[in-house]
Amino acid sequence: MKKSLMICLMVAALVCVFALPAVIAGAAAPDSITMKAPNDQKMTKPAVVFPHKMHADSGIDCLVCHHKDTSKDAIKSCVAEGCHVDASKAAKKDPKGFYQAFHSKASDASCLACHKKEKKAGKAAPVGCKDCHK
Ligand code: HEC
Ligand code: HEC
Ligand code: HEC
Repeated sequence: MKKSLMICLMVAALVCVFALPAVIAGAAAPDSITMKAPNDQKMTKPAVVFPHKMHADSGIDCLVCHHKDTSKDAIKSCVAEGCHVDASKAAKKDPKGFYQAFHSKASDASCLACHKKEKKAGKAAPVGCKDCHK
């Protein structure tokens, strides 16, 4: 009895040590993110500095951009395993490729699609290459 209680406590402690930071990290929305291709893949343009907090604070739902995540507390990077990880030239037209994640005209989650729509509506959302890649 005593021994099983000890094991229970140890398991509970381990869960706290490993799971809690993940929960905290999952809920926090970073202020600004310098966006880079995953796994040191080659980049041809200056890295984009994405004003994350400004977007989150402007009332866009987290899950519009984090479109494959099921809750605000379980958010993963765009380049998490199984997502937009291929930054090769060959994957440029692939909707799952790295490039289309940010420039697709067809997805509400893409920077460029939303900006084009918002610009038409009169907002100051940048659409020129050099306005993002600077
Ligand atoms: C609304 C912001 C935005 C605009 C406008 C934009 N991009 Fe991007 N682009 C990104 C983001 C975000 C990434 C991924 C992160 C990064 O590369 O820094 C990216 C990545 C890329 C990449 C792959 C990474 C690399 O450096 O090779 C290329 C190529 C690219 N963009 C070209 C362009 C071109 C050409 C234009 C203009 C037609 C353009 N982008 C306009 C946001 C933008
Ligand atoms: C306009 C689009 C957009 C909105 C809205 C948005 N995010 Fe993000 N978020 C991003 C992008 C892009 C990244 C960078 C992902 C990457 O580095 O691949 C990011 C990164 C994150 C990360 C870090 C993920 C990681 O593991 O690197 C967290 C956590 C996060 N966002 C939480 C939130 C929360 C919570 C909200 C709502 C309050 C939110 N985001 C709203 C686009 C957005
Ligand atoms: C769902 C819509 C939406 C998405 C997706 C989105 N944005 Fe924006 N973004 C906006 C709007 C709206 C503004 C203009 C805000 C304003 O000034 O009213 C904006 C403004 C910006 C600005 C200008 C900020 C400033 O200080 O002038 C940058 C840079 C930017 N976005 C980068 C990005 C990048 C990079 C991505 C993709 C990773 C992205 N955005 C995705 C809606 C979006």
